[in-house]
Formats: sequence, structure tokens, C-alpha cells
Amino acid sequence: MSSRFTRLALVVLAAVSASCHHGGTPQTVDIGTYLGGQVSLAEATPVFGAHGMVSSNSEPASAAGAEILQAGGNAVDAAVATGFALAVTYPYAGNIGGGGFMNIHMADGRNAAIDYREVAPLAATRDMFVDPATGKLTDKSVIGHLASGVPGAVAGMAEALAKYGTMPLSAVMAPAIRLAKEGFIVDSALFRSLRGNRAVPQFAGKALFYPGGEPLQPGTRFVQAELARTLEIIAAKGPAGFYSGEVAEALVEEQVRGGGIITMEDLRRYKPEWRTPIRSTYRGYTLLTMPPASSGGITMTETLNILETFGPLPRYGSAAYSHLLTEAFRRAFIDRNAKLGDPAFVKVPLEQLTSKTYASQLAASIDRNKATKTPAFKVASEPEHTTHYSTADSKGNVVSTTTTLNGGFGSGVWVPKAGFFLNNEMDDFTAQPGSPNMYGLVQGEANAIVPGKRMLSAMSPTIVLDKDGKVLLVVGAAGGPRIITATTEVILNVIEHQMSLADAMRAPRLHHQSLPDTLRYEAGAFSDAVADSLRAMGHVLLRTSGLANANGIMRVSGGWIGVREPRSMGASVGH
Ligand code: DON
Repeated sequence: MSSRFTRLALVVLAAVSASCHHGGTPQTVDIGTYLGGQVSLAEATPVFGAHGMVSSNSEPASAAGAEILQAGGNAVDAAVATGFALAVTYPYAGNIGGGGFMNIHMADGRNAAIDYREVAPLAATRDMFVDPATGKLTDKSVIGHLASGVPGAVAGMAEALAKYGTMPLSAVMAPAIRLAKEGFIVDSALFRSLRGNRAVPQFAGKALFYPGGEPLQPGTRFVQAELARTLEIIAAKGPAGFYSGEVAEALVEEQVRGGGIITMEDLRRYKPEWRTPIRSTYRGYTLLTMPPASSGGITMTETLNILETFGPLPRYGSAAYSHLLTEAFRRAFIDRNAKLGDPAFVKVPLEQLTSKTYASQLAASIDRNKATKTPAFKVASEPEHTTHYSTADSKGNVVSTTTTLNGGFGSGVWVPKAGFFLNNEMDDFTAQPGSPNMYGLVQGEANAIVPGKRMLSAMSPTIVLDKDGKVLLVVGAAGGPRIITATTEVILNVIEHQMSLADAMRAPRLHHQSLPDTLRYEAGAFSDAVADSLRAMGHVLLRTSGLANANGIMRVSGGWIGVREPRSMGASVGH
């Protein structure tokens, strides 16, 4: 392990296990049909809502969205309310100092995607994370003031609300402001993620998050006065309250203090981008997915197009299925890692990569009995955190949103006086072509650092329509590149394997991202005998803990079913 990754591991290891995939102390149960996978059945209980649904990683944030639905808001109003509430109650991933992607389907047939990904600051340079003396990557893309891209969350959420919502910003932000001002009860997941974090205590947020030097204790009320004030300013002034004025000044002051490079000009220039969702089909169902600057939509589409050429797929848990899924993921990720980047800076071959003809060519290169090899390298450690949330309303409008600071608590840098964490999204760029980033992704020139450029994302907020064009699923995940594979698998589990949403979410997952050439799997994804068969085919297997963190909604007769990630924490709240 390079020192960069050793450092990284120290910073985040405990946070990962404490928060992203192991929230609470789930009672582990055997889920029979899935060969003994260990997830908590209790925590995956589907929730029914006749009128609407919000599913997220934080109970008070889901309740904030449901409150807005109850007050007559639509799914977009609820999504923005949930997004701001997550910035308060789920501070390791929910954010105003980061960015995300929101995928919107309106009942009247309109589809829209908004990309509020961070951008590289104007003073960023291609090799800014490479030590000139040693030629080696530093950890500065991960921890500290240089790690942040210019935040997009406030601009993106406000823009989505203005175009597709029905309520004023101040109304949808009211629950978040209340949660910041009056506080919320710290749960053990937040406590443990703070306990495991080594970045935050290096920076200004220490006194707030570690009162008396100890992490916030479970069961205590946590009030964030500075954040409440920042949210009030945004509620009153809109994005201008974040990108200019005292909040922006506080952000820039902290950047200057810590040797960061984000300026007032960077903030002034930030703009979210409306995108056309990628529309693809899988066995007659329609998928609406996220185009670049996320790689999610292209990679999912390419994977599913490859799989579709095989006719009905072998059964879940079989060697034949796991092999095909792995080989499809491998091929889609090879393209992802080499060819995708911000479309404003590189030409992305979207048409080709999402075409059925191209998928047939790739499918023809799959040997049904043998793994295709890709050169291996060391697996990097994996800091986290991102969060996905889904909302639906009584009219049939749905919103699928993924947002992130990248690592847990982002760069660890907290903005004094304004009360929020800044992202460490710069690590999603190719900091050095050929070297793995913190998710082990080896990426190419298309994703190199350029001022003003968006770093390639894996975030995959997705909406699936049934054969009649009605919403079937609203789903997405957290987990770096595992976002793409987990979201694809939940969809395959429902469409191909006819599982309920709860079963589809519980079903143990597998992951392959081309490099490292390792088939990672959760316990129960297949039996030991199947594992032997896969090894005999040439797959390198690595059993791992929870692979991603998804939150989904499914339309059912008479309403909506919400299921939050069984491997983690959160809640679905119906209306
Ligand atoms: O945009 C991306 O692909 C990453 N920044 C996502 C990071 C993530 O999902 C961390 N997860 N739990």
C-alpha cells in the first residue's frame, strides 16, 4: 500500500465501517433464498405510502420530505427539503459544501436531469496532487483545503426547485433550518462515524463535533447554530446567499487560511447544468439515467445492453449469472475509465457506448466459461460517503437524487462561521493517469484536472418506467463505483429476477470495475460451490462487507413502497 492509501485508510477506515454500510447494530438473519446473506430483515421492512414516499439514509431527513408532501408539495419540493435536511442530520454526506445529480420524471411526461457536480477551481492544475520531488501522488486530493471542488449543491437544488417545484425555497428549507436550530438526536451511526474519523479533528469543526475532545454522544441533542444561520441566509436570498456575501466570504477565508484555492470568483461563476437524461431500454422497460459528468448512466446502460443480448439470464446466485454480470460490468467499466469525462471538456462517445449494436459486439467477446483478464493492481482502501434519496408524490412525479462530499465529512475542512463541511471531490479526477484513486479506479486523460471542469462521477440516480411508461422504480446508491453496480443489480433483481423491492435491496451484491481485476462479493451472493466454479473460470474473488448503500421506491397498486438500505441506516417515510 502506498503511503497515500495508508494515510487514507487511517483517516476513514472506521468511518466506513461505522457509517456507510454498518449503521446501527443490525440483527443479522439468514435470508434463505439468498444463500445466507446477512442483512437485517427488520431494517429492510418496506414502508407503504398511499400518496407519496421519501426514502433516505436519515430518518429526520425523510420526515422533512414527507412533511413537505403533506403540506401539498410535489416530489421535487420534497426532494429539495430532504436534501437540505440531510445537510443537517447526515453531515458526513448530506451537504451544502458538495454536489450531486438529480433525476426528475414528471407525471406529465417531462424528464429532466440536473448536474450540480463540483468543478475544479480556476487555479487548479493538472498535476497539483503529484509531489514534484518524488513524482508520487500526495493525499492532498483527499484531505484538507486543496481537496475541494467548487460546491454545486445549493445552486442545483434551488434551480431544480425553481423549475419543477411548487413551493418557495424558504418553505422547503424550513424543516432543515428547524433541525439545525433546535437540534436533532445523535444516533450511534453519527457517533461511530465521528469516532472513526481522523480528518475532521485536524480542522475547525473539531470543537462542535468533538465537544470536550469526544465525538458527539448518541442520544444527545445536536444543535448547529452557524449552519442554521447559513441556511436562513440561503432561504432568504436563494443561491446568492451561498455564492456571494458572508457565507461565500467565510468559505474563502477558510480556504485562504488553510492554503486552499477556491476564490470568490470561483463561487461567482458556478452554474448547475440541465442535462437530457439517457433513455435506454431493458426488456421493454425504460431507464432514465444520468449522463456525464456522471458515468453512471452510460455504464449502467452499456452493462444492461450487454446482458440483454443473452436472453433470459441464468438464475440469481448461479455461477453462470455471476460470471455474465461480472463480464458485462468489466467491459462497461473499461470504457468508463478510459473514455468518460466532463462533456464540456472532452468528447464523450455517448451514442456509441449506449448503442445496442456496440453492446452486441462486446457481448460476443464474452466467453461463457472463462473470465477475461485485465491487468491487476493493488486494491486501494475506500473512504466514503455519499447518500442517495428518492421521493414520489400522489400525482406520480418522482425524483431520484444522489449527493456527496465524496469521503466521509469530505475534505474534513469545516467552514467556521458558516457551519458546513467542504467536499474532497478533487480525488474523483484522474490525479495521475494510470494511478488508482481512492476507489481503486484507474482512469485516463478524459478525466484529467482542468480549471472549471467537472470531475467524473459514478452517481447514478435512476428512474425505471414499466412497459406502459408508468414509473416502476426510483433508485440509486452511494459507494463510489459500486453505485453503478449496486443500482444495476437492484434493477436486474426486480425486472429480471422478479423480486420485490425489499428482496431486491437485500439480495447480496457483487462488484467488478475492470481494475482491479477482482470480483468482489457480499456473503451470500453465491454459494461456496459457485465460488469454486467462478475461480475455476479464472475470476479472482474477494469477499467483502456491504458493497453499497441504496434507497429505493417502487410503485405498487394503490401507492408507493419505500425501502431504505438494509445494510445501513435511514428510513422510508410514507404519506
Ligand atoms: O461521484 C462519485 O462517484 C463519488 N464521489 C461518490 C463517492 C461515494 O459514493 C462515497 N460513498 N459512499
